[in-house]
Parts: sequence; C-alpha cells; structure tokens
Amino acid sequence: MTHRRTVSEYGNDFYTRPMKNKAPSFETQELREFGEVLRGRRTVNLYLQTPVPEELVRDAIEVATWAPNHHLTEPWRFILPGEQTVDKILDLCQRIVSRKKSTDLALHKRESWSQKPGWLIVTCRRSDGELRQQEDYAACSAAVQNFMLYLWKAGVGSKWTTGDITRDSRFFDIIGVDQSESFVVGLIWYGYPKLTPAQSRKELSEVLTRLP
Ligand SMILES: Cc1cc2nc3c(=O)[nH]c(=O)nc-3n(C[C@H](O)[C@H](O)[C@H](O)COP(=O)(O)O)c2cc1C
Repeated sequence: MTHRRTVSEYGNDFYTRPMKNKAPSFETQELREFGEVLRGRRTVNLYLQTPVPEELVRDAIEVATWAPNHHLTEPWRFILPGEQTVDKILDLCQRIVSRKKSTDLALHKRESWSQKPGWLIVTCRRSDGELRQQEDYAACSAAVQNFMLYLWKAGVGSKWTTGDITRDSRFFDIIGVDQSESFVVGLIWYGYPKLTPAQSRKELSEVLTRLP
C-alpha cells in the first residue's frame, strides 16, 4: 500500500475538542488576520524579479492538496516548468498571438510573459460523467485557491490564467500531458508583487439571501 500523508495530531485535537454547547470566541486577532489574508489577496500582474524560494512553492503545493475533494479523487496534478519549458511556452504564446492579432502584439506579450518569475500549471483529470467532472474541477479550483492564499500570506502574489494557450494541443505537448486524460485548470504565475492592484466586491446584501 502506498504511503499517505495525514494531518497533525494538533490539527485533529484542536478541531474536535468538546465545546460544552457554547461556540468558542470568534472575535480573535488570529481570525481577523486570517480574514485579512483572504480579503487582501489580489491578482498580481507586475512582479519583482526576486526569486520565490522553491521550498515555499513546494509547501504551497502540498497545502493545495488539502483542498476538499469529493470521493477523495485528488484529481489535481501540478507542473513546475523549468526555464527550457517556459521558453517553449513563450514561443507558443508568441506564435498564437502573432497569428490571431499582430507580430507587434505577440512580441509585447512574449516580453510581458517573460517577466513572470514563477510558473505553475494545474491540471485536472478528466472523469466519467458530468457531475464527477464538475466536482473534480471544483476541487482543483479549491486547491488553486489554497496555493494562492498560502503564497499570499508569505508575501507572494499570483495570477490564475485560463487563456487560449491552456487549451492548445501544442501546450499539452510542451507540458507532457495527454489532453484526452486531463485538462488545464490554470496557468498560474507567482512572484513578489511590484504593484498590488485594488479591487472591489458587491455588497454582501447583493449576494446573500436569508430564508426563513
Ligand atoms: C478560473 C479563473 C480564470 C481566470 N483567468 C484569467 C485570465 O485568463 N486572465 C486574467 O487576466 N485574469 C484571469 N483570472 C483572474 C481574475 O480576472 C481575477 O481573479 C479578478 O479580476 C478578480 O481580481 P482578484 O483576484 O484580485 O480579486 C481568472 C480567475 C479565475 C478564478
């Protein structure tokens, strides 16, 4: 039987200790700070060239795999492309944009993509049946969010992208993934932010319904 990772004893104990019919305090500094991490994470476009430690990225991927996944399918796979692979992706990006738009724009896009310090590709296994596929995609999305939030807490920004390139068969050849078996959930760039954009969200009253 293959080895499986388990959560720590501390984690289990902390979340299962008896509550004596009273909710524990939620007005804690820790929880407020956690909320700030969730609220504060932004999609980052511009990065410093400071490399992100590989160990941190590995930790973020490990944390990503603790996302909920129905039937424990663990449908995600993570690919960290090295320089040679990124170069091939840049070539393909340039080719695609040049064909669809213009050579100038293609060069510009290549240049902007070449400034992304960190690259991660997340794939999801194709499954039989629409429901299972939806659930597996949802699980992979939760994993991507875990990855991004963990990095954000460490001061690292990221951007989840799903451009045309992530559905191009040549992209699958470059990353060595069989397109009939898996699809790309996201091409994720990460790095220390040069600029963190502002964002807004709808009021809670617009998205929350209470029923009797
Ligand atoms: C599934 C998914 C795909 C996305 N694909 C792209 C993309 O291709 N290009 C892009 O500029 N942003 C993409 N984004 C990022 C969103 O544009 C971004 O999350 C949104 O603008 C809200 O900004 P925030 O993440 O800072 O809150 C994607 C986000 C998700 C969840």
